[in-house]
Amino acid sequence: MRVLTVFGTRPEAIKMAPLIRKLEACPDIDALCCVTGQHREMLDGVLRKFDIKPDADLAIMSQNQTLADITSRTLNGLTDVFAALKPDLTLVHGDTSTTFAAALASFYAKIPVGHVEAGLRTDNRYSPFPEEMNRRMTSRICGLHFCPTVKNALNLKNEGITENVYVTGNTVIDALNITVGGDYAFESEDIKTVDFSKRLLLVTVHRRENYGGLENILRAFRHILETNPDTELVWPVHLSPAVREAANAMLGDAPRARLIEPLNVWDMHNLMARSALVLTDSGGLQEEAPALGKPVLVLRRETERPEAVEAGTVKVCGVEYDAIVRETELLLNDRKEYERMAKAVNPYGDGKASERIVKAILDAEIP
Ligand code: UD1
Ligand code: UDP
Repeated sequence: MRVLTVFGTRPEAIKMAPLIRKLEACPDIDALCCVTGQHREMLDGVLRKFDIKPDADLAIMSQNQTLADITSRTLNGLTDVFAALKPDLTLVHGDTSTTFAAALASFYAKIPVGHVEAGLRTDNRYSPFPEEMNRRMTSRICGLHFCPTVKNALNLKNEGITENVYVTGNTVIDALNITVGGDYAFESEDIKTVDFSKRLLLVTVHRRENYGGLENILRAFRHILETNPDTELVWPVHLSPAVREAANAMLGDAPRARLIEPLNVWDMHNLMARSALVLTDSGGLQEEAPALGKPVLVLRRETERPEAVEAGTVKVCGVEYDAIVRETELLLNDRKEYERMAKAVNPYGDGKASERIVKAILDAEIP
């Protein structure tokens, strides 16, 4: 069976990488890979580290690309790729615009599609934007659904999707099992200058719906640094120009704020393992940090990943200045509260999600 993975951004690549390894190791599968290049440097870093050599690269990225740019370039580009590679099954991941456009392109070519990380929902079509609608539309198109958790499968059931739904765990845990551990030596020169005697606040912010509210968030970071001299903030800043401009303008001269270049995924995961807490609007970090026992404050109004919130390691903090300062300082100053949150919980599986997905692909009656 010819199985084509299609992805385009950093998080998709990180979570598809362990699956690609399993697909390549399976004698009954001819594993093919196409990247859209929705991200460039941030994607290429992951491909390099996991030694993935795509069979096709649409190279669609442009500065400040719009959603329409990503969607139309992916749809058009994949037409030729499908004709050349002739896959029997396409696999997409998550909720980016690459995900939705690749699923749609596959449908247009009458090639069945499987969705990895299926069934996450906020039930607010505009938040996260455009990811909530991307994943709903992807679910409609796909014939195989690989859900990280039982809750995700229930979300699909509520939408009438019950055929070929598999609860597999999340491949992010498979990735962490590859990257974290041992006596890790960081590659990034930026990390070598971090003061690890301070309490490390690992920060990432990049979501489109946060662009308008970045000032609140960044003012809160600045206040926290000014009033807590035993902390150091490390932010590997996303390459999005909108994010970089705001980060440099608001925190460029803040005390102990290290705005650094994106880290390779091994450095990132091992830095997380050594941080005190994580402040983020990222999806992936909400899954990784709990597995590493690090409290997470989510800089959004809601999350499609309630599992670690229920387990107590993740708190949805919102995007208001007061709430971010209050919740961060609570964790910095109240040891009991910190200990309560800093426990390793892992609602996302045992690191064998990729194996289960491959088995399901081989066993399923592919529609
Ligand atoms: C995208 C996804 C989002 C995902 C995020 C992961 C969509 C609509 N959004 O958002 O769901 O959480 O990726 O990071 O699919 N850029 C570079 N080099 C890179 C990557 C980005 O220069 O390697 C710059 C480009 O100017 C690009 C901009 O960042 O136009 C934004 O990238 P884009 O993929 O459109 O949006 P993200 O915010 O990264
Ligand atoms: N990540 C990384 N280097 C960085 C920042 C993040 O490797 O400098 C990893 C992070 O550990 C996680 C993924 O990238 O696995 C998250 O990507 P991002 O926040 O861009 O997207 P999201 O998860 O929000 O879709």
